[in-house]
Amino acid sequence: MKGLKEKIAQLKKEKNAVILAHYYQRPEIQEIADYVGDSLGLSQQAAETDADMIVFAGVHFMAETAKILSPTKTVVLPDLEAGCSLADSCPPETFKVFKEAHPDHLVITYVNCSAEIKALTDIICTSSNALKIVNSIPKETPIIFAPDKNLGRYIIKETGRDMLLWDGSCIVHEAFSIDKLLELHKGHPDAVIIAHPESEEHILKTATYVGSTVGMINYVKEHPTKKFIVATEVGILHEMAKAVPNAILIPAPAEEDNTCACSECAYMKVNTLQKLYDCMLNESPKIEIPAEIQEKALLPIQRMLDLSK
Ligand code: 13P
Ligand code: SF4
Repeated sequence: MKGLKEKIAQLKKEKNAVILAHYYQRPEIQEIADYVGDSLGLSQQAAETDADMIVFAGVHFMAETAKILSPTKTVVLPDLEAGCSLADSCPPETFKVFKEAHPDHLVITYVNCSAEIKALTDIICTSSNALKIVNSIPKETPIIFAPDKNLGRYIIKETGRDMLLWDGSCIVHEAFSIDKLLELHKGHPDAVIIAHPESEEHILKTATYVGSTVGMINYVKEHPTKKFIVATEVGILHEMAKAVPNAILIPAPAEEDNTCACSECAYMKVNTLQKLYDCMLNESPKIEIPAEIQEKALLPIQRMLDLSK
């Protein structure tokens, strides 16, 4: 009898499917994916693929972004419960009122938001291109940045631009403990701290490098040091360990965590290999977006892709 991996490979051929996975997915999912990447890379892949079906091993807003970019393709997500606390922290109705209160502001939103929020946006960004995108806006144009206040604060600090921030955040990146991190660093003074910009300001201040998941992987590949404390979701260590097999990679400790000293995104981890197979087989759960929202949401994503070339 065929194993799950073989059955997935066979279905992939039969359905002309492509499997796109984020770095926070379970290792066994990353291993069978055709492409593993950060939010920007995944949306670029979704825009360019000639597959008929996109199997999105990530969270809901990522699969929605793929559907917005490739509306004629079937996009499936292994589990609809794969949400995102950051996307949830920005409800469209409340955001619409906020936007209407500042009609002269340009709206830049982080890709971690719903299709409805994207439809209310001028330009999308990811953690890979946020600084570039904000720097591309004329200095005199006022900006609303949503939903991540931590990324927003980091952009303000790096670009010197004053932006109006939405009060959203990621529960995983806000769970890191500064006291435990400093204590850990005391025990490993030779380790370089690297962090994702969704982390809080005090964590980012301790970091030598701040960047997206792919940025962090590239940084450790090129850095002469071979010991790193990594402040992002722990799933990234799978790809990072492959990229730098001789390095010591230590996950940054979370406040509540006394067992594995790591932070896991429960949303990312609801996807399993079995659910991935089932969603390909049944072509469900399928991502569907009303045409009006899809068309409006496409423009700000397309602007981001054009600015990222
Ligand atoms: P990256 O785009 O850096 O991979 O971040 C994605 C993310 O926030 C998933 O939580
Ligand atoms: Fe959302 Fe945070 Fe999970 Fe990323 S790590 S999917 S931002 S909850």
